[in-house]
Amino acid sequence: MVVVLLGPPGVGKGTQAVRLVDELRAAHVSTGDLLRAARREGTELGRLAQGFMDRGELVPDGLILDLVREHLAGIDGGTDVLFDGFPRTTDQADGLDEVLAAAGRKVDAVVLFEAPDETLVRRLSGRRSCPECGAVYNVFFGPSAAEGMCDRCGATLVHRKDDAPETVERRLQVYLEQTAPLVAHYQVHSAELTRIGADRDVEEVYADFRRAVTGLGGAA
Ligand code: AP5
Repeated sequence: MVVVLLGPPGVGKGTQAVRLVDELRAAHVSTGDLLRAARREGTELGRLAQGFMDRGELVPDGLILDLVREHLAGIDGGTDVLFDGFPRTTDQADGLDEVLAAAGRKVDAVVLFEAPDETLVRRLSGRRSCPECGAVYNVFFGPSAAEGMCDRCGATLVHRKDDAPETVERRLQVYLEQTAPLVAHYQVHSAELTRIGADRDVEEVYADFRRAVTGLGGAA
């Protein structure tokens, strides 16, 4: 089963995806995580992506599709996949369809997480991320046990540069202009779309998310 997670920055896509892939032993394909890894490793892609990410703009479609193609080549064709933060434009969605079709697969379901902007802004202002193991915390809603330190690996937590207020404002605008149209795109292309109110406790959101995905068959 192939599932696409849609939703604005900070809505909780990553938080929810990590839990479900762990439970279902599925693959989690987060283009944001892949790009941050490329930056840490100092690759050509990381260098090219840096300016776009720091400004809150989308990285060009061609680079993203190459990245996803390369990453999918390393995932067994029978594995369930959750795409998080990809696709983000209709060209990326078309590109994904082509890559999947070549492997005899398709997007089976789309889950749209929704929350008001005030919630997103507060979550992003409080997010702290571990640059070593990728764990995510929130100073308001889910802090680490020792302030500023990762519970899992002990590394110093960071506030992502693109979580600065002015960049968050731009990311929200980019989401509305370039990614929100994918909702209509997927409705037309008939993948099953489930809306989940994400302005609730993580556990409540997860219960609905899990039900939406496992209820569609295949991934449970
Ligand atoms: P990316 O990393 O994908 O960022 P995003 O989509 O903006 O999503 P976020 O990671 O900010 O939020 P999230 O929804 O995963 O929330 P999270 O679970 O962390 O992309 C970054 C950049 O890379 C882009 O701006 C772009 O430049 C580039 N890029 C990436 N993919 C691209 C693509 N396909 N095309 C082009 N460019 C691309 O939660 C947020 C916080 O809230 C956390 O602190 C968490 O603990 C907390 N939280 C989560 N859920 C709850 C809850 N229910 N209650 C309380 N707190 C909660």
